[in-house]
Amino acid sequence: MKSMVWFVAIAVTLIVGGCSTKSEDAHESAKAATVSEVGVGPIQRVELGALDVALAKKGAVIFEQKCSACHKLDSRYVGPALQGVTQRRKPEWIMNMILNPAEMLEKDPTAKELLATYLTPMTFQNVSHDQARALLEYFRQVDGAVH
Ligand code: HEC
Repeated sequence: MKSMVWFVAIAVTLIVGGCSTKSEDAHESAKAATVSEVGVGPIQRVELGALDVALAKKGAVIFEQKCSACHKLDSRYVGPALQGVTQRRKPEWIMNMILNPAEMLEKDPTAKELLATYLTPMTFQNVSHDQARALLEYFRQVDGAVH
């Protein structure tokens, strides 16, 4: 009789233990999904207004200088084609990728997937916050944003 009690106690512990591990997993993936939206880095929120053409022009120049060694707009190069990037990623995510690529590639699920495809890690190009914002404006212009 005593051993029966032990058996039940152990079975209950195993079942409850099993369930709690499962719900922790679910919690982890929910967290990962949020991280993926804005990415990992200094940018938590970007306010977008009407397209700032002058800022986009600055971004185009920076793109030529600091990004074109690895990126084209319309085709794959060392990195992905960047046309359409403002449609597939949030503005915060794009700026965090530009300002904080090493940590993004280590922690952000979407960036990790890209690295698995492109195999070359994107490196920080000494871009200031304002330059990253100008690059974002340029990508918005490329993608046809007006407001
Ligand atoms: C050394 C090559 C290299 C340089 C220079 C570089 N990148 Fe990248 N970039 C990559 C690679 C490769 C990826 C894909 C992720 C990975 O493997 O690191 C990427 C990914 C990205 C992404 C995400 C694209 C997507 O489809 O989500 C953005 C945005 C981006 N780069 C912007 C820039 C900007 C802006 C610059 C210039 C400041 C720049 N990159 C400079 C190689 C580079």
